[in-house]
Amino acid sequence: MKGVILAGGKGTRLYPLTRLMNKHLLPVGKYPMVCYGIDRLRRGGITDILLVISKQSAGQYTDFLGSGAEFGVSLTYKIQEEAGGIAEALELAEGFILPGERFVVLLGDNLFMDDLGAYMEKYQEQPQGTAKVLLKPVEDARRYGVPVFDSEDASLIAYIEEKPEQPKTKFCVTGIYMYDEAVFDIIRRIAPSRRGELEITDVNNIYAGERKLTYDVLKEWWSDAGTFQSLQEAGEKLKNTLP
Ligand code: G1P
Repeated sequence: MKGVILAGGKGTRLYPLTRLMNKHLLPVGKYPMVCYGIDRLRRGGITDILLVISKQSAGQYTDFLGSGAEFGVSLTYKIQEEAGGIAEALELAEGFILPGERFVVLLGDNLFMDDLGAYMEKYQEQPQGTAKVLLKPVEDARRYGVPVFDSEDASLIAYIEEKPEQPKTKFCVTGIYMYDEAVFDIIRRIAPSRRGELEITDVNNIYAGERKLTYDVLKEWWSDAGTFQSLQEAGEKLKNTLP
């Protein structure tokens, strides 16, 4: 399988820090945030990785990561010209993913300790054209995508509500997704949301509506480091996990 890390975006919740530096390059422990996603993919056996980055910070990414050789991976870079949503960034992976290939997508601010290998193996057994998302129980699901499960088949998600005021379950849909090339046709089927972005939850809801969206629940620590508090906590938690 291949890997795609989405590391563009404006990171407005981390202003003013992110006026200077892209969110995914901010320090977490001894390394820039993006290194942890690369490490998770590599440990899961994925070494062919596409990084989707913004043009303002492209030079910093290549300065630090280079070809990826130092980190045991091979990196390809694509530029997202304007921040137009997660699904728009994902669309840039078309061409990197060859027909018949499957891939893991990580949102670059999602930090976690689970080994991806077992989840990837389960996804490989799924039929072509289906998808998988990884979930995590959280205390306050209101700031995430929240899954509602299929009442007949407990292995499926019926639909996802994005940032609901009253979450129907205690789970959050993390920014760890598995797809094959069918996802690119699905992205073309969605329209921009009210905030003018192509939303990943709209993509996943097409799969869910067609009963093609499975899930697994992460067992270990997970966080999205998109706020000051979670960024600090992640730094503390991960400070000794990379060499
Ligand atoms: C995005 C997704 C959301 C998901 C979250 C995980 O939200 O839209 O469904 O739960 O990532 O990190 P964002 O953090 O971009 O608001």
